[in-house]
Amino acid sequence: MSLKRNEFRMYQRTIHKTLLILYFLLSYNRVEGQKKLSKLEDVELEKQLKILNKPAVKTVKTKYGDTYDCIDFYKQRAFDHPLLKDHNFHPKMKPTLSRIKKDSTFSSTTNRSSTIWSKDGGCPFGTIPVKRITKDDLIRLNRMPPPEDVTFDNEYDVVAITQISYNPNNKFAGAGMDTTVYNPQVNGQQHSGSRLKIHKGSDIVQAGWRVDPTLYGDTNTRLFIHFQAGEIRCFNTLCPGFVQVNHDIPLDNSLNDTISVRGGKLWGLVVHIERDLSGNWWFLLRKDFTRIGFWPQSLFTDLKSFATNVDWGGVVYSPSGVPKPPMGSSYFPIENTSYDSYCTDLAIVNEKGKTIEVDTTVTHTDNPYRGEFKLLSRGTQNKYFFIYGGPGESTHV
Ligand SMILES: *[C@@H]1O[C@H](CO)[C@@H](O)[C@H](O)[C@H]1NC(C)=O
Ligand SMILES: *[C@@H]1O[C@H](CO)[C@@H](O)[C@H](O)[C@H]1NC(C)=O
Ligand SMILES: *[C@@H]1O[C@H](CO)[C@@H](O)[C@H](O)[C@H]1NC(C)=O
Repeated sequence: MSLKRNEFRMYQRTIHKTLLILYFLLSYNRVEGQKKLSKLEDVELEKQLKILNKPAVKTVKTKYGDTYDCIDFYKQRAFDHPLLKDHNFHPKMKPTLSRIKKDSTFSSTTNRSSTIWSKDGGCPFGTIPVKRITKDDLIRLNRMPPPEDVTFDNEYDVVAITQISYNPNNKFAGAGMDTTVYNPQVNGQQHSGSRLKIHKGSDIVQAGWRVDPTLYGDTNTRLFIHFQAGEIRCFNTLCPGFVQVNHDIPLDNSLNDTISVRGGKLWGLVVHIERDLSGNWWFLLRKDFTRIGFWPQSLFTDLKSFATNVDWGGVVYSPSGVPKPPMGSSYFPIENTSYDSYCTDLAIVNEKGKTIEVDTTVTHTDNPYRGEFKLLSRGTQNKYFFIYGGPGESTHV
């Protein structure tokens, strides 16, 4: 155990050192404007890319123009993590719980998001799709804004969320939601998205959709996950941690074919994060709980056991001095679920593994957005919706 801890510290130091080097390289580069990378900088970036990009079994192009490498399951980035060296994970792994099954009481009128992301057959079983990282990606990623704070009182992220009332004795083994997918317009370093977030202390896991040109290099609405375990944090699999088992659905999958039209056809993204009996936190997609992968228990300190906080809703970011981008549908809610961006089917899993539909929450909204947790009708049904969003400070909506 003490050896592992030391290894882990060394690993953290290596990451910090690498980021520091990159930071200096790239900030130097920014000062020089268009100056081309020097030979030394170039060598350093190539070294990073070699560590990050694993050898591909097959390369797949999606209809959105993304190129994915199909990486052997056992060669995925997660297993570079010193705490995951001696794992016995395999591509057929399922969450060790009986509670993950179709729950017919959770019905929704929104359509599922499409997962057909490739025309040429996708990745074979035993591999996972991973987007190839380029030099431009590395340079862009270095400009990522600071991560979302757990307390909502930082100056960076602006939210409209609803949450379970905090109690240090809360014990959550998971949560889920069905959120409408939109494509709010963002520019430059802005981002805008909707997500489910579970945390305890300094450990956080999140999943949802976001428009984030800094992360993705385009303004498509894409699936994302994020984790923070102590000082290690990243999106998708940009750093070692998340173990992907699904060979068909990439973590940064474009949702471009399933963008809702306000007042028209609506598309929902159903996400669940659930802790199994081994303590691994699974990321599951859609109503049929399609397994995408999991964050192994060994990554965490606070989330080794149950979570204390769950929240749902929208998050945006703008660099200081830049007007805030639109959130959700880009309109304020009007209490009509055909028009409002929403999160519904909010559910938590209690420590006994029972799924409980959420009917009481505490809402937190920052200016200039709005959010409300309310019983509303959808078709012939009445159910709880967290309706949220707004145009932000943009003038062209
Ligand atoms: C995304 O969808 C829009 C609208 O349907 C379309 O115009 C655009 O070409 C799509 N982008 C990609 C990358 O597929
Ligand atoms: C869901 O998709 C089906 C088939 O494409 C369509 O007929 C139906 O109207 C859609 N439902 C909603 C709520 O958009
Ligand atoms: C929501 O808007 C639609 C279309 O305008 C309308 O038919 C429906 O009655 C509205 N629903 C409510 C609850 O106001």
